[in-house]
Amino acid sequence: MISTHALGKQYGNRAVVEGLDLHVPRGCVYGFLGPNGSGKSTTMKMLLSLVRPTTGEIRVMGRPVQRSTRRELLAHIGSLIESPPAYGHLTGRENMRLVRRLLNLTDDQITRAVRTVRLHDQLDKRVRDYSLGMKQRLGIAMALAREPRLLILDEPTNGLDPAGIDEIRRLLTQLAENGTTVMVSSHLLGEIDRTAGVLGILGNGRLLFQGTREQLFARSTPDVLIDTPEPHRAATLTADRHPARVDGASVRLSGLDDQATATVVARLARADVDIYGVRRQTQSLEDVFMALTGEGGL
Ligand SMILES: Nc1ncnc2c1ncn2[C@@H]1O[C@H](COP(=O)(O)OP(=O)(O)OP(=O)(O)O)[C@@H](O)[C@H]1O
Ligand SMILES: [Mg+2]
Repeated sequence: MISTHALGKQYGNRAVVEGLDLHVPRGCVYGFLGPNGSGKSTTMKMLLSLVRPTTGEIRVMGRPVQRSTRRELLAHIGSLIESPPAYGHLTGRENMRLVRRLLNLTDDQITRAVRTVRLHDQLDKRVRDYSLGMKQRLGIAMALAREPRLLILDEPTNGLDPAGIDEIRRLLTQLAENGTTVMVSSHLLGEIDRTAGVLGILGNGRLLFQGTREQLFARSTPDVLIDTPEPHRAATLTADRHPARVDGASVRLSGLDDQATATVVARLARADVDIYGVRRQTQSLEDVFMALTGEGGL
């Protein structure tokens, strides 16, 4: 649905997005993740022609986005960037009426969009009296009304409570099941990782990972913990081959496969180090994300 090649944006002489090769498959939820300031919004704005790229190319539905195709391609994209776009002093219904006129849509299209986000019985309230979750859903309804093939949502779960987040997640899953491609950003892995079929992880404007949750998980290497009364001596004995850290009454070694573990244990045994236990500790997906984006990035 979207592919970019070497997409980049510079402000002054600072590159805020660099060398992005994004591949967003059709009909999936694509989770676009990265810490604050990593360039998610800038990238999404470039995809929507709201910010002009400094370098690279963008293709949407297989066609290059350029002056002659932009208008037609954008007509297939619904978006919600940063804060919800509705007027607070108007009701939900009045806001949706504006969208209908602006985009020349039918009443049916408006009704469907509002039902999809389950706001149909809240339409006569003023938007300023909506909860944050309701405002986000109205924003999504506004983006959905034109029945886009691609939906680009920038942090739609930001500031929502767990129930609100869950509601958005279910909505996105349902949209993708019905054939809409959804690209959704978040700075929190946990908010979208299970919903997204494909994840793109950004750090400092660069794509650090792109693939499925399982592929991301496959990158995690379990730590091996060796419990011993002499952790410092044990760490010194392994340090020439494997970086080791003393962790309480254990030595923690990263990235060891079964064979390397056996070799290390045999070596310690030959040096008469008492070994009380050998354990593996798997990383959580959150750990992998943090290791990838650095300092947790959150
Ligand atoms: N118009 C601009 N002029 C100069 N710098 C900008 C501009 N817009 C964004 N930046 C910078 O680009 C970097 C990336 O910003 P961006 O908003 O894309 O990040 P983000 O990943 O969306 O962050 P967040 O999670 O906080 O929304 C930031 O360092 C930001 O300060
Ligand atoms: Mg942003």
